[in-house]
Amino acid sequence: MKPIQVGLLGIGVVGSGTFNVLKRNQEEIKRRAGRGIEITMVADLNVARAQELVGPDVTVVNDARAVIANPDIDIVIELIGGYGIAKALVLEAIAAGKHVVTANKALLAVHGTEIFAAASAKGVMVAFEAAVAGGIPIIKALREGLTANRIQWVAGIINGTTNFILSEMRDKGLDFGVVLKEAQRLGYAEADPTFDIEGVDAAHKATLMSAIAFGIPVQFDKAYVEGITKLGAADIKYAEQLGYRIKLLGITKRVANGVELRVHPCLIPAKRLIANVEGAMNAVVVQGDAVGTTLYYGKGAGSEPTASAVIADLVDITRLESADPLHRVPHLAFQPNAMSDLAVLPMSEVVTSYYLRLRVADETGVLAKVTGILAESGISIDAVLQREADEVAGNSGVPQTDVIILTHDCVEAKMNAAIAHMQALPSVLEPITRIRKEELA
Ligand code: HSE
Repeated sequence: MKPIQVGLLGIGVVGSGTFNVLKRNQEEIKRRAGRGIEITMVADLNVARAQELVGPDVTVVNDARAVIANPDIDIVIELIGGYGIAKALVLEAIAAGKHVVTANKALLAVHGTEIFAAASAKGVMVAFEAAVAGGIPIIKALREGLTANRIQWVAGIINGTTNFILSEMRDKGLDFGVVLKEAQRLGYAEADPTFDIEGVDAAHKATLMSAIAFGIPVQFDKAYVEGITKLGAADIKYAEQLGYRIKLLGITKRVANGVELRVHPCLIPAKRLIANVEGAMNAVVVQGDAVGTTLYYGKGAGSEPTASAVIADLVDITRLESADPLHRVPHLAFQPNAMSDLAVLPMSEVVTSYYLRLRVADETGVLAKVTGILAESGISIDAVLQREADEVAGNSGVPQTDVIILTHDCVEAKMNAAIAHMQALPSVLEPITRIRKEELA
């Protein structure tokens, strides 16, 4: 059978990795797919550089639409990124009857509903293993490997940049800003790191996981998103003293009245395997009712790790290309006519436990007032840690200290009100730090 022909839109880090791995492992891949898979056409603005990367046998153009218009191309790989031209090209490729493979989490998290509907109507596949956690086959695991389960929750370290920064902050006792600059110098963080450090990239990925875990539409606009920019070295140190690590987690959870979808820094017990995922690595924990807890670990970015996921999608499509579209694995794991209308809950309705750090004047009765407010609010305290005042004295002459409180579970709205109440105490000297805590048990 003649090889399946693939057109590549954008040959940057992931595109060149895809080209190289496909070429290097072509025999092995053909044995698996039942048919050769060849990138025969590439579109990139830098034609000369692209031609140099792929050699003379591949057609290189600067117009992505020429790839889509080529009737010999069966699958289009979109590696341009963003919501702009990438969206138009993906929809045009679908309209032209091409299957699409993309690593574009932003595009699918925001416009997935439209894109998957267009693909279903046209009977083509849109595959996106590379969009979540790079080389880790988490989409495959959620969509197929765990298909027997009622998934209860998914929690992941799904942004390598922020995990690298948090690991460095913990190792070296440095604050966020210092480590970010170093991460940029070393190439671990981009010149504009906003999407990573503000949690947006992780929220795109969590949104996709929530859809395939629970059979709900992709709803990035409903996700709660909080990044790591306000974390201080002191919180990481105090968490450690209490037996926890702080990680930026993407969490999606099925609860009685809906689905939680949130990204924020989170204390997790240091003894959990996922708490020990360091540097730029990614890991995802999935809890299913039958299988229990499962953990997936690996590189969440990079040329060949991401290419590994892109090519897995190419093989899937090649195997299923001739299958009746109705009998393929659905894009979002659940049959399109069996999607759930479970609501994504606002953050105020989320139930979790908390780490609070209060900078207070070290005076008689302060702790009693603070704990009194928590008690009046019906919030149960799990642990309290107070530093010696002379270790942390401020400049004003008034002795100051940090009071750290771990709470049991409570609904976020109740915690918001209690924090506002405590913040109003004259002895509370700085904005209260609140970090959510998950036991992941
Ligand atoms: N910038 C992402 C990360 C990789 O740091 O994990 C691509 O999503």
